Amino acid sequence: MNDTFLKACKGEEVDYTPIWIMRQAGRYLPQYHTVRRKGSFLDLCKNPERAAEVTIQPIDIIGVDAAILFSDILVPLEKMGAPLEFRENQGPVFPSPIRDRAAVDKLGIPDPEDDLGYVMDTIRLLRKELAGRVPLIGFSGAPFTLATYLIEGGSSKNFLNTKMMMYNDPTLYGDLLDKITDCTIEYLKGQVAAGAQALQIFDSWAGSLAPRDFSEFAIPYVRKIISALKEVTDIPLIYFANNGATLLDQSLTSGADVLGLDWRVNLDDAVSIVDNKVSLQGNMDPLSLFLPEDKLRDRVANVLKQAQGARGHVFNLGHGIVPQTDPEKAKLVVQLVHELSKK
Ligand code: CP3
Repeated sequence: MNDTFLKACKGEEVDYTPIWIMRQAGRYLPQYHTVRRKGSFLDLCKNPERAAEVTIQPIDIIGVDAAILFSDILVPLEKMGAPLEFRENQGPVFPSPIRDRAAVDKLGIPDPEDDLGYVMDTIRLLRKELAGRVPLIGFSGAPFTLATYLIEGGSSKNFLNTKMMMYNDPTLYGDLLDKITDCTIEYLKGQVAAGAQALQIFDSWAGSLAPRDFSEFAIPYVRKIISALKEVTDIPLIYFANNGATLLDQSLTSGADVLGLDWRVNLDDAVSIVDNKVSLQGNMDPLSLFLPEDKLRDRVANVLKQAQGARGHVFNLGHGIVPQTDPEKAKLVVQLVHELSKK
């Protein structure tokens, strides 16, 4: 098996820097659209054969060193009892936002096999179809990020309703976050049992929090998830706090093996801060893929150079690849990372 990614996560010796790309299975690939047109986005998440097919597309087409399960961070919330819709050009919507005691108390903890069996089936199918070519990454959202979608009823600009609940009814907020945390622990344990070989926790909106609020209202729940997982598995656990440059010292207390970094932080500064305690993942600006080839090459070389002092480095973009990206450019980045990092 190509286990370069797993080794870099654990800080072991590798022959070259492994790369995968956030949102690598997605709309920048024409082959994704072909499968996606057969139904809605949620239909695709719930169909193991098709979800596995789009998961494998970027392995075949651009040559990344790890596969990431095709699904969405929001699917377990639907099974907690919050109906979910993906509306064309609007993104995810929860038509009944969770904002009061009655709504929080009604939420349940789904069973991974009984309620989210389609995700577990996709993982089992992928392990068979990948046949050891590259490792499979499972994932979840972090409790704070998931809570923002439930409380706001979808995406948000300033997270007004979420912060109102945090500040004015911290007990209700804490009860909601505890339920999401318990759900996430069961969900991720289910993914490990089904065959996930690494896990990433996406905290996409962590950067909207002041450091003191992050320490009280977000990171404790991540810590709880990671310590529960560490009791049952030693696969690499990655924590990605998007826009989290000022949260890096706190992220280090999460217990994760790898911290994902967005592009707003200098990777070499992060290397000093984490001081060999964890490996690092990232962090080229996704929009760098719109640079001309020679400049793109410089950017890739620069990220690799900045990562040199890290315990381990997994190359990635600082956030998801954007739909307008030319797949050839994504392929070129993979080639450049492999070529320029070769020992
Ligand atoms: O390739 C992969 O990375 C695996 C699949 C994956 C998707 N979503 C597929 C997807 C993963 C890991 C996610 C995680 C996810 N989902 C996050 C965390 C990462 C991040 O971007 O910060 C978040 C916040 C979501 C919630 C979500 N899903 C939003 C806000 C949207 C709408 C905006 C958008 O990008 O379209 C989605 C939809 C979504 N998730 C798509 C895909 C491929 C597009 C759906 C389509 O085909 O129409």
